[in-house]
Amino acid sequence: MSQATRPFGVTGLVLALLACAAALGGDSRGATRPRVGETAAGAPLAEPRTMRNRSRLPHTVEVELTASITRLALEPGAVTDAYAYNGSVPGPTLEVHEGDRVIVHFRNDLPEPTTIHWHGLHIPAAMDGSPLTPIAAGGRFDYVFTIERGTAGTYWYHPHPDARSGYQIAKGLFGAIIVRARDDPLRGIPEKLLILSDNRFDADGSVQVADPHSFAGMRDEVNGREGDMLFVNGQIAPLLTIRSGEVQRWRVINVAAARLFRLALPGRTLLLVGSDGGLFERPVEVGQVDVANSERVELLVRGTGDPGARTTLQSLPYDRYVPQTRPHDWNVPRDLLTLTYDTRPRIPTPRLPPALRYVPPLDTAAVTATRLLVLSQGLINGKTMDMARVDVRTVLGATEIWQIENVVGMDHPFHLHGFRFQVLDRNGVPEPYRSWKDVVNVRKHESVRIIVRYDDFPGLWMYHCHILDHEDHGMMGVLEVRPPPPR
Ligand code: C2O
Ligand code: CU
Ligand code: CU
Repeated sequence: MSQATRPFGVTGLVLALLACAAALGGDSRGATRPRVGETAAGAPLAEPRTMRNRSRLPHTVEVELTASITRLALEPGAVTDAYAYNGSVPGPTLEVHEGDRVIVHFRNDLPEPTTIHWHGLHIPAAMDGSPLTPIAAGGRFDYVFTIERGTAGTYWYHPHPDARSGYQIAKGLFGAIIVRARDDPLRGIPEKLLILSDNRFDADGSVQVADPHSFAGMRDEVNGREGDMLFVNGQIAPLLTIRSGEVQRWRVINVAAARLFRLALPGRTLLLVGSDGGLFERPVEVGQVDVANSERVELLVRGTGDPGARTTLQSLPYDRYVPQTRPHDWNVPRDLLTLTYDTRPRIPTPRLPPALRYVPPLDTAAVTATRLLVLSQGLINGKTMDMARVDVRTVLGATEIWQIENVVGMDHPFHLHGFRFQVLDRNGVPEPYRSWKDVVNVRKHESVRIIVRYDDFPGLWMYHCHILDHEDHGMMGVLEVRPPPPR
């Protein structure tokens, strides 16, 4: 990693911003565009299509995926040169079962190198699509891996080239992965997929990327790039229809570069049934749920309203920012979609299983090392990433605790490649329920302990802040997992 690709260390920027903010009189957001809720939206929610499986073999999914420049209206009504997987944004959904062998014939028709990272999947390092394995412009690569049993859940795929992930994802490269279990306890409940994103555009409808030297550019450096337009599956404020009495299972993925969505249906509770790595042991009733960027949640939404009623899924204010760069409208709730009840009469609400599945706890008595990772602004343990350096060395089969300490006044969502983990506690307070995670939002000045076991797959793995601007500027480290010594 040459320093030249990372000219803007985030360290010290806050001070520079203080000066800029004073000079510019605070937030410099320009012309007003329609905001969610003000747009005459209301098209029915459309879900991305599923990748076509061309294999006839059992337990095999073989698909073609091409990334290319595609003329699309990312902003409604303004066609632009987007980046798209198989011509659509979001890209097509990869739908597989536990135990499936997956073959993805990937072609990079972009004018720059890229990779596909299978965020959250437990697969060999050579297939992980990390910055260590770029695919050149015009190049091809076959990603081949097997879906591990017990990992049914909602995941996603996205580019992960060195220093360009934020740009490529903003241009449209992201898609969902659904891993199904043969014995899904929620089988039969209607499902909806909700891919949440945000973006902002220039007047001609092209994706707006701020000049790094401008105030907006420096603010993106600190906050992570946010857009004022919010999307669900690439649509603004779509309509999702439910029948009175019906229960729906929503799989929610936050693919935004930095924005955290605090989801709520006003006046109503939600049943949270799963997170990054699939279902919990039992449903948890919540008033709202935070989904940091790159996290996933599964919700059961109960259609308690009357036929013909409507309500709104909102993103409530959440302050993840340092005061100097906090957006002026951070405290305004935003509408994401309208939940409308059709006119059919109420049906009896189905009985929901009280227990979902067993989530085996990782054994704290087996821990062989505790690692301290200090997150500061743009740095992990005081360093930016060097792909030629190994930051953490361990051995296959080990169980470790990582204590992740955020020493600054903004949140950093921490992500580990390849190995799912469990959150033990936050500031010493035990996590209320057990779940499989691959991202944990480490809040301002918070210390989080996670436990991880390196079950399989030796090699080099990334860990990083999933605010894409931070990641691209090197808020990342390298974990080496070695095979055990011969004995
Ligand atoms: Cu979704 Cu290394 O990230
Ligand atoms: Cu990942
Ligand atoms: Cu960060």
